[in-house]
Amino acid sequence: MPTQNFNPQSVLVTGGAGFIGSNFVRTLIERRPDTRVTVLDKLTYAGNLENLADLEGQYSFLRADITDAEAVRAALQSRDIDAVVHFAAESHVDRSILGPMVFTHTNVLGTHVMLEESRAAGVERFIHISTDEVYGSLGPEGAFTERSPIDPTSPYAASKAASDLVVQSYIKTFDFPAIITRCSNNYGPYQFPEKLIPLMLINAMNDKPLPVYGDGMNVRDWIHTRDHSLAVLRVLEAGAPGAVYNVGSSNEWPNIEIVKLILRVLGKPESLITFVKDRPAHDRRYAIDSSKIKRELGWEAETDFDAGIAETIAWYREHEDWWRRVMSGEYMEYYDKQYANR
Ligand code: NAD
Ligand code: TYD
Repeated sequence: MPTQNFNPQSVLVTGGAGFIGSNFVRTLIERRPDTRVTVLDKLTYAGNLENLADLEGQYSFLRADITDAEAVRAALQSRDIDAVVHFAAESHVDRSILGPMVFTHTNVLGTHVMLEESRAAGVERFIHISTDEVYGSLGPEGAFTERSPIDPTSPYAASKAASDLVVQSYIKTFDFPAIITRCSNNYGPYQFPEKLIPLMLINAMNDKPLPVYGDGMNVRDWIHTRDHSLAVLRVLEAGAPGAVYNVGSSNEWPNIEIVKLILRVLGKPESLITFVKDRPAHDRRYAIDSSKIKRELGWEAETDFDAGIAETIAWYREHEDWWRRVMSGEYMEYYDKQYANR
């Protein structure tokens, strides 16, 4: 098992002002205080520098779009970047159904620009943050391995799968030292309240209906974002260039059970649950087999789910200012569009 084969000096984190990216920046600074950290982010509706407020002075920030080759080139050169950790993306399935084009633009073209500029700049490691959603949907048995066929269903998942294929072409054609990670559903602090857990939490706190899609029996495999961040750091330092690593914590839950758990912890009634029209092509079940990263890199998820969800619920209770601010502006417009006709 390799302990460490790469020692990055200057890391560019794209999408570092988003949910997982900001949690990763926190982990990177904690674990590698001598590494220079630069965050490149467009600050879309999902990006927010408040997510990094406690790290002020410990990282540099560049506001830029990953589809802007000149801006990316300047960032890589001016900061002498030797490693890129690429989180920036449009990340929400429901938004990809309402408006798919920006997903292909950002996730496919943006990733291609990041790869091309990183190759030209001689970047030594490029970690591409992908998702288990590229594998499509599972039946009641089994789990995705790195050899499962790519079979995406939503425009979001398709754009991530397409970006993975561009990364793989750079690995094969140019011997470019990229690595792909595919993680399951994350939860934790700073998640934008369009995703299941924060949306249900905030609606429950406000005694609003909890919109559960379909029969509520779709299964997701939940991992705390801190565990995901530690996996990405391990891959950065010890992963094999060219490899794919699945990341998960073997923690499957039907959506309805997660929603009931949230209501229990908050002391709210189950009568708030409202079954609404299903999402089109709603993937039935995700489950991740992470035996490869465990075996080859010695990473394992550490957070117990009961403790992690309790901590997350407490975080949202204590950060009302944060979620009220991120939910202002375009959020309610999105919310009304998304839930109006269900
Ligand atoms: P997020 O939506 O919270 O954050 C995305 C970030 O990317 C934001 O800060 C946004 O401003 C930035 N961004 C978007 N378009 C950009 C552009 N054109 N140029 C520069 N920056 C841009 O997303 P997240 O949930 O933190 O997901 C981060 C990554 O992890 C994504 O690549 C996603 O596919 C992947 N992923 C997410 C999950 C999950 O459960 N959320 C699971 C597995 C993988
Ligand atoms: P989400 O957090 O959007 O993640 P993903 O679709 O990428 O897995 O959704 C998680 C699950 O929760 C998914 O099965 C859809 C479901 N869901 C609802 O039932 N109601 C909602 O309002 C949302 C946002 C999601």
